[in-house]
Amino acid sequence: MENKIIAANWKMYKVKRDVDAFFEIWRKYERLKNEIVIIPQAPLLSYVKNFLSYEKLGAQNCSDKKEGAFTGEVSPYLLKDTGCDYVLIGHSERRHIFGEKNEIMGLKIKNAIEANIRPIYCVGEKLEEREKGKTIDVVFEQLSVLKGLPSGGYDIAYEPVWAIGTGKVAKKEDASFVQGKIKEYLSQNKIGEGARILYGGSVKPDNSSELLMAPNVDGLLVGGASLDPGSFFKIVSSG
Ligand code: PGA
Repeated sequence: MENKIIAANWKMYKVKRDVDAFFEIWRKYERLKNEIVIIPQAPLLSYVKNFLSYEKLGAQNCSDKKEGAFTGEVSPYLLKDTGCDYVLIGHSERRHIFGEKNEIMGLKIKNAIEANIRPIYCVGEKLEEREKGKTIDVVFEQLSVLKGLPSGGYDIAYEPVWAIGTGKVAKKEDASFVQGKIKEYLSQNKIGEGARILYGGSVKPDNSSELLMAPNVDGLLVGGASLDPGSFFKIVSSG
């Protein structure tokens, strides 16, 4: 099996002593072939960076601006300077709790790529959209912001909103189907060169292996189950 990318989205959890405790255990585990990305809150980035050896560092969000009078924003250029290789863009919590609109996503992705950071662009439908059979329409609409951007340099995470933090994981067939459609969309529009498609939403040690083996699943974006080093290691080593 080819190497996968497995990212730990720590969301708004952990302070420094929790990071110490995580890496005290994590360091004892063997190094794995899969690419691992740790994504902590922005003020923890430098701190976490000190613990990393082969793992990569990622941020949870970035501004669509380079620099300027934009209080509270974080520039991808500073993220790069801090050691980030990845940044999440368009996570459903940004879209649905903080009201970030689809239109700004393209600008953020472009800005991150120009800062030499690889965006992981998150897409996915809400439960009511799924029930109305609109999954593919919603996902394609979210992907449309990629048209007109550099043809590559980013990855995509398919995260059905109804599966995030709920314990309801998408069936591997559903993840494969939607992720296959995402690949078709990218290739038909001649975009997304080299993009890997991650699955996210209630990934746990007991479902990660079958998800990782499913067609079109090139990696995983893990929230809750990445907070504990033991459970994250089981996920990372399961495929
Ligand atoms: P979860 O979160 O694994 O806790 O469902 C995934 C995510 O939000 O990226």
